[in-house]
Amino acid sequence: MIRPYVTLSCAMSLDGYLDSATPRKLAMSNAADFDRVDQLRAESDAIMVGASTVRRDCPRLLVRAEERRLRRLAQGKPVSPSKVTVTATGELPADSAFFTEGDVEKLVYCPQAGLDRIRGALSDVATVVGLGATVTMADVVADLARRGVKRLMVEGGGKLHTQFLADDLADELQLVVAPFFVGESRAPRFVEAGPFPWTASRRATLAATCRIGDVVLLRYALSDRFHTEALESESIGELSARL
Ligand SMILES: NC(=O)c1ccc[n+]([C@@H]2O[C@H](COP(=O)([O-])OP(=O)(O)OC[C@H]3O[C@@H](n4cnc5c(N)ncnc54)[C@H](OP(=O)(O)O)[C@@H]3O)[C@@H](O)[C@H]2O)c1
Repeated sequence: MIRPYVTLSCAMSLDGYLDSATPRKLAMSNAADFDRVDQLRAESDAIMVGASTVRRDCPRLLVRAEERRLRRLAQGKPVSPSKVTVTATGELPADSAFFTEGDVEKLVYCPQAGLDRIRGALSDVATVVGLGATVTMADVVADLARRGVKRLMVEGGGKLHTQFLADDLADELQLVVAPFFVGESRAPRFVEAGPFPWTASRRATLAATCRIGDVVLLRYALSDRFHTEALESESIGELSARL
């Protein structure tokens, strides 16, 4: 079974951080860029974030624009994509907006050994799936494919992006660069260390750039599927026309 088309999406500071290390979350992007992200969500069947992002951000991960929600309904899809996360500890608050907001499927992947415990804590709010001794992103995307997911959007954080990139499971990267520095070594980075397939001698393909107010979007093609399966990006095309 073919795995979903995987798009990684995030916004980072000029020095490569996703957030600050302080209790207060940093807003990296701007309203026009949030609207682009909303379009990308609307084009996805599932949205995945790491457990730290659920704990820190309490994200709703819903399609916001009414016309996009209606378009999805007209296409026979739920108003918003399924939500997906992964955890080993199982420390996920059941009252997080990730679980409580939106009448959509919520999936939690965990190692098989923690399944009973985590299911006990979260089965009222999500479907908890055990995947092997340790969860790999290859197993996650294979399971999502079996559940009918054709397009997966991965919205961070860095630990999750690192695994998708190092395991060569990403087809596209939409990376926004915000015009400021974080400057705190304890803050989460866009990626951690890893054996990435793209190196100085095997460079990734920069497919498009787009200025969105005071941020810039860099769109990288990371697999051959980008050229055959990337949508004629409404998000970027519409935006360029508007700006
Ligand atoms: N600027 C942006 O666009 C953006 C986007 C998203 C997030 N963020 C920020 O990024 C920060 C979080 O990033 P992060 O890199 O620290 O963490 P993360 O990637 O969000 O989550 C890491 C956690 O996910 C779970 N996990 C990941 N891979 C796993 C695997 N293979 N098996 C089992 N569990 C796995 C573990 O949870 P357990 O500890 O529960 O086991 C791990 O501690 C937050 O500050 C957030 O606000 C920013």
